[in-house]
Amino acid sequence: MSTIQLRTSIPGPRSQALMRRRNAAVPKAAYHATPVFVARAEGAVVEDVDGNRLIDFAGGIGCLNVGHRAPSVVEAVRRQLDRFLHTSFNVLAYESYVRLAERLNALTPGSFAKKTLFVNSGAEAVENAIKIARFYTRRPAIISFEDAFHGRTYMTMAVTSKTHPYKAGFEPFPGDVYRIPYAYCFRCSYSLEYPGCEVHCARHIEDTFKRVVSAESVAAVIVEPILGEGGFVTPPAEFYSILSEICHRHGILLIADEVQTGFCRAGATFACERFGLVPDLITMAKSLSGGLPLAAITGRAEIMDGPASGQLGGTFGGNPVACEAALAVLDLIESENLNARANHLGEMFRKRAAEWQRRWELVGDVRGLGAMQALELVHSRATREPADTETKEVAQFCYEHGLVTITAGSYGNVIRLLMPIVISDAQMDEALDVLEAALGAVAEKAVSCQPSVVST
Ligand SMILES: Cc1ncc(COP(=O)(O)O)c(C=O)c1O
Repeated sequence: MSTIQLRTSIPGPRSQALMRRRNAAVPKAAYHATPVFVARAEGAVVEDVDGNRLIDFAGGIGCLNVGHRAPSVVEAVRRQLDRFLHTSFNVLAYESYVRLAERLNALTPGSFAKKTLFVNSGAEAVENAIKIARFYTRRPAIISFEDAFHGRTYMTMAVTSKTHPYKAGFEPFPGDVYRIPYAYCFRCSYSLEYPGCEVHCARHIEDTFKRVVSAESVAAVIVEPILGEGGFVTPPAEFYSILSEICHRHGILLIADEVQTGFCRAGATFACERFGLVPDLITMAKSLSGGLPLAAITGRAEIMDGPASGQLGGTFGGNPVACEAALAVLDLIESENLNARANHLGEMFRKRAAEWQRRWELVGDVRGLGAMQALELVHSRATREPADTETKEVAQFCYEHGLVTITAGSYGNVIRLLMPIVISDAQMDEALDVLEAALGAVAEKAVSCQPSVVST
């Protein structure tokens, strides 16, 4: 049976009936990439309530690097379910919280003393990192980047860039947040070309200190080592050495938001490692705990110890079931050598994508590190006009042929890969066959729709 078959049964009757109930009971703002309800999932494959099998290239938006229901994670969760579910670390402590903090302190970049705080979501991790940075430095301002995404709470919306759908209508946002261009070489804000540009974007922050906000007012620069929602934009190697030297010189903390990039996605346990970046604070969530809600802030001990007892925390932060799951995830990363696996998957994708780029003008940019790979689609490579409608069509074709993908980018024209890193080579090939067929169908339709030139 050909794998590239139209699934006429999607969404099936059960998914459709559930969607009607969902529409009546749940606000429309909680969006769906597909109209499908899931029944079960294993590894890189999801089965919906109508029995359709789908390969998962979304991984619960990057939360499932170790795969759906990784057996050792499920086992660790089961063991904890039989002991206790919740006490609040703020009331009755438990060892798994401390052990996980010790492991993250040792695992994150930097050989200095570190401490870790656990919270519930990526946004909450970013909120706390900013609280800690402001408290420690006694400075108010935060610098973030164009095309960044850091969450949906008020402070995280303030440091997020993309207006629709994340920010529009929710104004006003907390103040003292300043935004500078990211190292987005495919769409350079300064119209420069790498490497001739000498990574001007990293140095430009010195100008920001003169014209926008004084360096001595800035508590922290927050940056995703590789943009997530912003389209998997991957800075040149020198970007972070320049940026961190400037921050260090001005006493500004560097916060690396590894919520999406962390836990092997980029072919290293933390994407920072791919750039030799040693941040002062790191935020983590998503794949940390193999599918349970858990987030962390790890940082230099003296910075993390700035706020006094009771100034940080929350009822559920560092839930014991989620901590046990995360400890099992960290074991799996080592025992399965998931970083090597991520790099292998990245190579599989890059080989195919190079061919797609040769064949179709639509494929404007292929980029990423490890298994954090993406395609940016354009109408023409000369103009780089974003092909957002075509990107939606590619995602739709994929879903209708058994592959769940999600899009990204400020212009909505990026297809990003967030498959479980435990996906088999055969499943990866099957998924890439579907993606190739989708790109071919959309690219060829785009060409056939172009008006033919008529000479008069
Ligand atoms: C880099 C980054 N930071 C923060 C967040 C927010 O995480 P959460 O959705 O868990 O609040 C996300 C979510 O996609 C993210 O990609």
